[in-house]
Amino acid sequence: MSLQLLEGLCRAEMEAIAKLSPQSSSKFVKIGAGGDRTKLIDIVAEEAAISYLTLAGFEGKLVSEELGEKQFGSKEYPILILDPIDGTTNAVRGIIPYSISAALSLGRNLKDIFAGIVMELPSGRVYKAVRGKGAYLDDRRIFVNNPPPLKHALIGIDVNVRRDNTKIAQILPLLLEVKHIRVMGTAALELCYVASGGLDLYVDNRGLLRVTDIAASYIILKEAGASLLRLDGSELDSPLSLSERVSLVAGNYNLCVEALSKLKRI
Ligand code: IPD
Ligand code: CA
Repeated sequence: MSLQLLEGLCRAEMEAIAKLSPQSSSKFVKIGAGGDRTKLIDIVAEEAAISYLTLAGFEGKLVSEELGEKQFGSKEYPILILDPIDGTTNAVRGIIPYSISAALSLGRNLKDIFAGIVMELPSGRVYKAVRGKGAYLDDRRIFVNNPPPLKHALIGIDVNVRRDNTKIAQILPLLLEVKHIRVMGTAALELCYVASGGLDLYVDNRGLLRVTDIAASYIILKEAGASLLRLDGSELDSPLSLSERVSLVAGNYNLCVEALSKLKRI
C-alpha cells in the first residue's frame, strides 16, 4: 500500500514534467526551503506530488525540498520525505539520469524510514523497498555487491565541492586507489546503483547532502544489504529536517571501512 502511494506520486510527477518545454523547465522561481535555487521543473514536480497526495487522501506530514513542511490532515505520522527532482541540473540541461525520491517514516529520524522509492528518469525504472521485504529494481530483487578490493572497485562520488578545496584533498587518496570513478549528479539514484550492484560504493564527503536526497535510498540500501556510515565510521542517522547536512559512505561494510581508511584526516 505504501509503495503504491509512492509509485503513484512518482508517476504523477513524471506526467507533469513531461509537459514542460526544455526552455521553461530551467526558469528560476525562488530559493527553496532546502536552500537551493528552485527551477520551474522542481515546482511543477512538487505541485503534481501535492495534488496527487490530496486526491489520494494522504494523512501525515510532507517534508519536501522546495516547500519545506506541509501537513495533510491531523496525523503526525507518517512523514513523507520527498525530493521532487533529484539532479535538477541534469534534468534542465538534457543530461540523463535524474530522479524522484520519496520515502515514508514512522518517526523523526532516517532510521525510522520504512518504505522508499527512487524513480530513475527519464527511463521510469523504479528502485523500491519496504522494511523487512527486500529491495527491488522493478520486479527484480537487488543486492549490494560482494565487492572486489578497493583497487578493483567502481565507485560513485560527488566532488561538487563549491570551492572547498579541503574536501578534494580529503578524498584524493581514495580516488588514486580505485579502478573506476563515476560522478553522475543525482545522489538518490547513485545510491540505488550501489543497492543494485552497479556501483560498488558511493562516497560523498562534502557535508552537503540533505535528508531529502537520501531518505528513500537509505531503506533501499539497507534492504539490499548495504551499510551507510558517517565519515567517522559510525552508522548513519539524521533527523528528518531540511536543515541537516550529511556526508556518507554506502556499500558493503568491509569496502566502506577500507574506503574510509583512505580518506585524509582534515
Ligand atoms: C542534488 C543532487 C546532486 C548533489 C547535490 C544535491 P538536487 O540534488 O543529489 O547529486 O550533488 O548536493 O543537491 O539539488 O538536484 O535535488
Ligand atoms: Ca531537488
